[in-house]
Order: sequence, then C-alpha cells, then structure tokens
Amino acid sequence: MANVIVVGAQFGDEGKAKVTDLLSQNADVVVRYQGGANAGHTVVVDSGTYKFHLIPSGILYKGKLCVLGPGMVIDPQAFLKELGGLMERGLDDSGLKVSATAHVTMPYHLILDAAEEDARGPQKIGTTKRGIGPTYADKCSRTGIRVEDLLDTEVLKQKLEYIVPRKNVLLERLYNLPPLNAGEIHEQYIEYGRKMSKYVCDTSAIIFNSVRERKNILFEGAQGTLLDLDHGSYPYVTSSSPTAGGACIGAGIGPTIIDRVIGVSKAFMTRVGEGPFPTEQGGEIGDQLRQIGKPWAEVGVTTGRPRRCGWFDAVLGRYAVRINGLDCMAVTKLDVLDEFDEVRVCVAYRDIKTGERHNELPSIAGSIFSRMEPVYETFAGWNKPTTECRSFKDLPVAAQRYLNFIEEQVGVPVAIVSVGQKRDNTIIIEDPIHGPKRVLTKSTKF
Ligand code: GDP
Ligand code: IMO
Ligand code: MG
Repeated sequence: MANVIVVGAQFGDEGKAKVTDLLSQNADVVVRYQGGANAGHTVVVDSGTYKFHLIPSGILYKGKLCVLGPGMVIDPQAFLKELGGLMERGLDDSGLKVSATAHVTMPYHLILDAAEEDARGPQKIGTTKRGIGPTYADKCSRTGIRVEDLLDTEVLKQKLEYIVPRKNVLLERLYNLPPLNAGEIHEQYIEYGRKMSKYVCDTSAIIFNSVRERKNILFEGAQGTLLDLDHGSYPYVTSSSPTAGGACIGAGIGPTIIDRVIGVSKAFMTRVGEGPFPTEQGGEIGDQLRQIGKPWAEVGVTTGRPRRCGWFDAVLGRYAVRINGLDCMAVTKLDVLDEFDEVRVCVAYRDIKTGERHNELPSIAGSIFSRMEPVYETFAGWNKPTTECRSFKDLPVAAQRYLNFIEEQVGVPVAIVSVGQKRDNTIIIEDPIHGPKRVLTKSTKF
C-alpha cells in the first residue's frame, strides 16, 4: 500500500496527467483535490488523446474509484459535458464519486471572472475565465453553493434568493451587465443536480475506508506550485492550493496517510497567463521550445493560448522541493530539448535592483520575485532523439549529464523521465513510490 501525491512543481502544465496516468496503473483510488475546469490534463493512450478538466484521469482504467474531492470547484455543465464525452468514448463511470461538499461554479462566477479580468486592464491575471476565483471567493465568504445544495430544491431556492440579487447589483452597477434570473438558475441547476446525484457522496469517508483497506491512493494535483494561492507568485496565481499540503485539506484526509510526494517538472519551463517568469525566452528559443504544429505544442489545453516558454529554473525547483516536501521528481518533455545546440539551467538569481546574487529565492513576494533575473549554467545539447530511450543509459551522455545536474541542483532524485507523450515513452530510473526514501541532499539547505 502507498498513498502518493503528484504535484506540479512549476507553473502548471508540467505533464502531471501523463505521470498520474502511469502511476494510476497501480492505484485503486485517484483523487482530484483542488481546482476546477481551469485544469487541462492530457493523456495519450493507444485509443487516442484524452483532455481532462474536472474528472480524474484514473477513469481511463476500468474499476478504479475516481474522486472529485471537497476542495474542488465544480462547474456542473462542464462536468456533465466532459463526462458525456468520456462515456461516448466507451469509458465507465461506475467508480466516479463527487464530493457533496465541493463548491459549485455558478453562472455569475463565470461572468464575474471575465468582467473582473476586463476591469483589471493591464493588471489582469490572465485567468482561464472558468469562474475559479469568484467560486472560491464565495466559498470563503460563506455564500457558496455546494454540490449537496443542487440536490435540495428548497435549500437551493433560499440560497439563490439571497445571492442572486447581490450578484445582480455587481453585474448591473459595477460592470454594466444584464442581471440574472434566480428562478431560471434554480431550474437549470436542480436539473444538473438530478443528473449528478448518483455520483454524490461523502468522498472523505470513501478515501478513509480505502486507507483502512490498505488500498493505493493517488492524489492528482492540478495547476502547479508557483500558482498556489499562498506560496505562488501572488496575485498571478489560481485561487486554490495545488501544493502537497492542499491535498490533505482538499481531499479531507490527514497528513499521516501520505507516503510519498512526487513533483512533476518539464525539462524546461512554461507559463500561461500573466506574472513573473524569470527564465522566459522570447524569439527563436521560445519558439523552438513551444513546438507549434506538434501534437504536444505548448498551447493551453483549456484556453488554447500559446504558453510562454523558458529554461529550467533550478531555484524554483528547490523552492518546489521545500514547499511540497518532494521525495523525488518526474521530469517530462526531455525530448523537446533534443534539437538544441545548447541548453541552459538557471542556478541562481541576480537582483536587478541591488546586483546581489541569490542562490535561493529570497522571497516569493511579488515585489522581490519580480526583480530576479536568472544566472545560467550552459550545457552542450545532445542533438540526438531520445523518444525511443527506455533506460537512463540509453540516453545520450549529454542528456544524462543534464538530468544529473537538475537532480543535484534541486536536491531530490529524478525518478521518472518522460521522453514523449505516450505511456511507454518513459524511463523509470528508480521506483518513485517504493524506491528508497531519500533524505534531502546538501543543496536543499535553505
Ligand atoms: P498537465 O496539465 O500537467 O497534465 O499537462 P498538460 O496536459 O497541460 O500539458 C502537457 C503536454 O505535454 C501534453 O500535451 C502532454 O501530452 C505532453 N507531454 C507530457 N509528457 C511529454 C513528453 O515527455 N514529451 C512530449 N513531447 N510531450 C509530453
Ligand atoms: P493544469 O492543471 C497552467 C493559470 C491561468 C492564470 C492563473 C489563474 O492544466 O496544470 P484561474 O483560471 O485558475 O483563476 O487562472 O492560473 N492556470 C493554469 N496554468 N495550467 C493550469 O492547469 C492552470 N490553471 C490555471 O492561466 O495565469
Ligand atoms: Mg494542463
């Protein structure tokens, strides 16, 4: 038995779903614990490509329990559409469970997300406009609608009668938008509730029972460490806690049941949306990393926006090790670097205001983080395809050196290397779950 958290160690889109899919083979339960339809998780299998937004990718395996945990925000329309698409492709929903206490993204959340972004003008966050921020804001204000409320006509009516007029004041007076009709929303969302009801339950109890039965549970993170509401590049973050600590809160389990935390990073780095990105590359290097035209091109799965691309940032890698307590890393998309004459890794920052060098991120506070410029080490590229490599020693020596350097820099072992989109385009260097639990090396002293 092992209970494992998979988290994004960068700005999201690290290839978490590919790694989760690999590890799901041996899991009994796969749990999403935060975020909502802002996520876009790609899994490529023999039968085709799947793009998940709300549903845990574990649904690709028959017989697994797939849990949408209480820490998630669920847009019922998006959920039913995604599920319908998966069922049309022959997938089985018998293991699907939705937490009764997860919050619901309502129509006014979607409208307000877009309106707030427009109003921010140059200070916009670049959200996915999936209503994430406004849904979590209502949760914190204790005016949210939970999945359970969609199952009770009277309760939903009462709540909407209170909430909708207040949202309409914002819509009409602040944003000059038409008001919403509480009755129409009620009718539509009761219908969604009816369709979702067979999946709704106390998912925390299900997970706890699975723990008692010594089953294997995989917690599938969405977004990434630098998008974490508390520990990311605020305000350019999402409104939930994608980091490992968030798995306990968001799934309703205690930290003592967690055995391993695996961080997923690309062999370079990407970001979609606004906010600081010290190693970002414009021009030819950015374009070469973006791989436009390839099936794995750096284009947002949810919004279709081109992703910003840059070199691997080991300072942020060390930060992710610290914030998540990573045991090991999975490094994805190594193959994207195959045709580079040289590759770079950011090993430290220089403060553009003071000229001071920082080997560790001095602070994630925006006023400091946005002043950091990268100090690079440069390596010769390998100029050889890696996609067919299946063991570490199959890799070109320069690629081996690159991975060893990343490992040394971040201070935890690279257990998995991904060299292509498909399940078998993968190198397992050591068992990420049952391999030896490593103590952090010297380079992770802060
Ligand atoms: P997630 O949100 O972290 O699950 O990642 P996304 O699905 O948003 O983006 C990762 C993209 O990289 C997807 O298109 C994956 O199929 C693709 N991908 C993952 N691992 C590899 C790899 O090793 N090589 C290549 N070429 N593509 C990969
Ligand atoms: P996965 O799970 C990459 C980014 C948005 C924006 C910020 C806030 O596929 O890794 P939000 O809509 O959450 O309020 O937007 O967070 N963002 C993501 N970036 N991958 C994601 O999910 C993301 N989900 C949100 O682009 O910058
Ligand atoms: Mg993604």
